[in-house]
Amino acid sequence: MTDVSSASFIPRRVSGPQGARETIAADGAAIVSGLPDEASAVAFARQVMGDKAVRCGTQFEATKTGGAREAMTVAAQPADHRGRKRDFGSAEERMVAHNDGFAFGDYAPDHLFLWCERPADTGGDSFLVDTARLMALLDADPAHADLVDFCRTVDIDHSEPNYPQGAFTPITRTTPSGRFQGRFHPYLAPVEGPAEKAHWPFVRSWEARVHQARDTGPMFRVEAGEMICIDNYRVLHGRDGHSDPQRKVCSIWGWSRDAVAIPEGPLDIVVPKIPMAS
Ligand SMILES: [Fe+2]
Repeated sequence: MTDVSSASFIPRRVSGPQGARETIAADGAAIVSGLPDEASAVAFARQVMGDKAVRCGTQFEATKTGGAREAMTVAAQPADHRGRKRDFGSAEERMVAHNDGFAFGDYAPDHLFLWCERPADTGGDSFLVDTARLMALLDADPAHADLVDFCRTVDIDHSEPNYPQGAFTPITRTTPSGRFQGRFHPYLAPVEGPAEKAHWPFVRSWEARVHQARDTGPMFRVEAGEMICIDNYRVLHGRDGHSDPQRKVCSIWGWSRDAVAIPEGPLDIVVPKIPMAS
């Protein structure tokens, strides 16, 4: 099996918005420190996007209690007609690697900033998976030629169960602004129709490679006042399980002029309606 562990990486620690911007462009992510509160974290995030910043703000605060409350609401939502069921999981479980805002399709933020107010006492380490690197590793192995071709060229359904996005796109693409985008989340599915059965093995194979990168690569601890700055189009993220109710991480979503689409208002991940469809 192809070794894809190097698609998972520990971001470099840098200082200053420009250092973060340059490192995100080169590596897909960077870590900065010395941000004492949420307001300074949001302000720094906006500075990282610089002249290109359009929208930036705290999307939600990940705490064990808040997560459990949202998870109950989502658990009450029905499965869709294909049997896909939304599930936020629990804090104790290792997260599935994902791009944030995946439910919103083109309206997902192109930047993500994870500011740590308080880490878990034990566990909860972070991981990142660079989908550009993952695709390059797969592309270097002829055994994966069909999977690579599928990821680049075949439209799939990126929606969450019961919240259709109204458009289908490949797993990876280059956006109109020239950014590489590689996507994964727990609900990827083929487009319904005659080719659906033939496409499922490719979607499952992509899923397996993403899980493999997550589980064979490094994880890293983020301390209070530190922030992971992420190219949310290119890099998947998540954290290991933990059981500390005091852990608190803020997800700050940023849209720059490079984003494919920019929403006019806040997005609701509990009821993820696509802005244009609402
Ligand atoms: Fe996330």
